[in-house]
Amino acid sequence: MIMSILEPWHYIKPSSLHGTGVFAARDIPAGTSIMEYEGKHISTQEADEMEPSDPNNPFHTFFFSLSCGKIIDGGDGGNESRFINHSCAPNCEGHENSAGNRVFIVALRDIAKDEELLYDYALVIDDDITPTLQKQYRCLCGAPTCRGTMLALPDPKDKPITKSALHKKLKKIRREQKKLSKQMRQLNKKLDRILQHTEDPV
Ligand SMILES: C[S@@+](CC[C@H](N)C(=O)[O-])C[C@H]1O[C@@H](n2cnc3c(N)ncnc32)[C@H](O)[C@@H]1O
Ligand SMILES: [Zn+2]
Repeated sequence: MIMSILEPWHYIKPSSLHGTGVFAARDIPAGTSIMEYEGKHISTQEADEMEPSDPNNPFHTFFFSLSCGKIIDGGDGGNESRFINHSCAPNCEGHENSAGNRVFIVALRDIAKDEELLYDYALVIDDDITPTLQKQYRCLCGAPTCRGTMLALPDPKDKPITKSALHKKLKKIRREQKKLSKQMRQLNKKLDRILQHTEDPV
């Protein structure tokens, strides 16, 4: 991973996407660790109890979720990384360190000078992802692959399974079970034969 040597890799200015954005100060090679996502570490309960960061937009957020369940609140002690906007076709990604308590914004590809830095927020909310909720977290990234929301959407592979598909799957599992039982029986027989020919009793 390439680290910043002297000058910062980024600068901030108004974004056509939303409010303030973060931009590449010079060409950034893929894999560069651009900056750390800094801020106070809080629990999900503390995050739920907090007043919105923008009273005019209750869905505005400076939170970055860690895999351990904690949240980094970029609005409290955060640096300019808190201004990075979301895109469904991002050029950056948040990488956790091995201890899982720090996040670094890393370039996913070569980024040209003055390009806006963007990562996929993939926000996880403890609620049913209703169309209303998706609209409240509406995405304006304009990417051809835009999913229309900054929320993480469930994998379509996880959609409810139909009865006939379930039946087919069960049949397949039973066939595999039979095959495995047959293999086990054969292996046990083989083991018996080997043990019979072993000189030292086990
Ligand atoms: C961490 S802030 C990013 C900085 C923000 N531009 C600002 O000036 O505060 C995140 C908020 O920016 C807005 N935002 C970021 N990316 C967006 C996008 N692709 N579409 C719509 N709103 C976006 C949303 O309100 C989101 O909650
Ligand atoms: Zn989008």
